[in-house]
Amino acid sequence: MSLNLFNLTGKIAIVTGASRGLGQYLARALALAGADLVITSRTLESLQEFTAEIESLGRRVLPLALDVGNHQSIQEMAEAAYSHYGKIDILVNNAGCNVRKPAVDVSWDDWNLVLNTNLRGGFFVAQAVAKKMIPARYGRIINIGSVTTVAGYAGITPYCASRGGVKQMTMSLADDWGQHGITVNCLAPGWFKTAQTKVLYDNEEWVDYLIDRIPLKRVGQPHDLDGTVIFLASDASAYMTGQTLLIDGGISTGATKATV
Ligand SMILES: NC(=O)c1ccc[n+]([C@@H]2O[C@H](COP(=O)([O-])OP(=O)(O)OC[C@H]3O[C@@H](n4cnc5c(N)ncnc54)[C@H](OP(=O)(O)O)[C@@H]3O)[C@@H](O)[C@H]2O)c1
Repeated sequence: MSLNLFNLTGKIAIVTGASRGLGQYLARALALAGADLVITSRTLESLQEFTAEIESLGRRVLPLALDVGNHQSIQEMAEAAYSHYGKIDILVNNAGCNVRKPAVDVSWDDWNLVLNTNLRGGFFVAQAVAKKMIPARYGRIINIGSVTTVAGYAGITPYCASRGGVKQMTMSLADDWGQHGITVNCLAPGWFKTAQTKVLYDNEEWVDYLIDRIPLKRVGQPHDLDGTVIFLASDASAYMTGQTLLIDGGISTGATKATV
């Protein structure tokens, strides 16, 4: 066994939603493992600082505009990435959003925004990129899930529905594209502190409650996703597809207190 199994030198990785948060954690990890990157956001300006950071690591990086709610934008991103590098090896399908409301207050538009971004958007990005991977008979697609991929929570019903869908989509695409040498897996993070979860982390009582329920007794830190994304993007996971890996300090084990 060689540690070269985890080396991504020469690989081209697209990370969607890399203007902040988990997208940057994941993209940085892939770059440190050797990959050259395509990073995306709806606004190119928000990628400037991170582009410079990745370049300072000695990696090539192509910042591209992408709105996963727009079919044309998805096609243009995949074409631009492919024509720039001549191939796409890895996709991290990370762009996503959430709407926090009691289920009775969720509007038609709330539902469409969350489902169309997290599920429809993820599918069509994967499809556009897979069309480039299939002729090469190689690809690693990593869909970002969540603890809500395997559990439901009050106040975020559309989000949970979208993330449950990501798990099923991952299995279906794995079955469909395995014959072309493409693996499709889901990396499901726990509750990390980012712009999307700021409203929760601003509440110290909630943070104490969360940590109490996490078996490893701490919240996720940026580097906690590094090993898993590199594993799923590399030859180390060559015979694994259709799976969901929860990187959540164990909270999805259902660590509810059963004693007092
Ligand atoms: N934070 C957590 O604890 C956690 C846990 C599990 C899963 N997740 C998931 O992991 C992903 C990243 O989460 P985060 O916490 O880093 O969220 P975040 O800080 O809100 O970042 C979301 C990213 O998605 C992009 N995005 C949103 N809507 C988009 C659209 N229509 N088209 C293209 N890009 C879009 C944003 O880019 P622009 O706004 O720059 O376009 C941004 O880069 C999300 O899918 C989230 O649901 C987060």
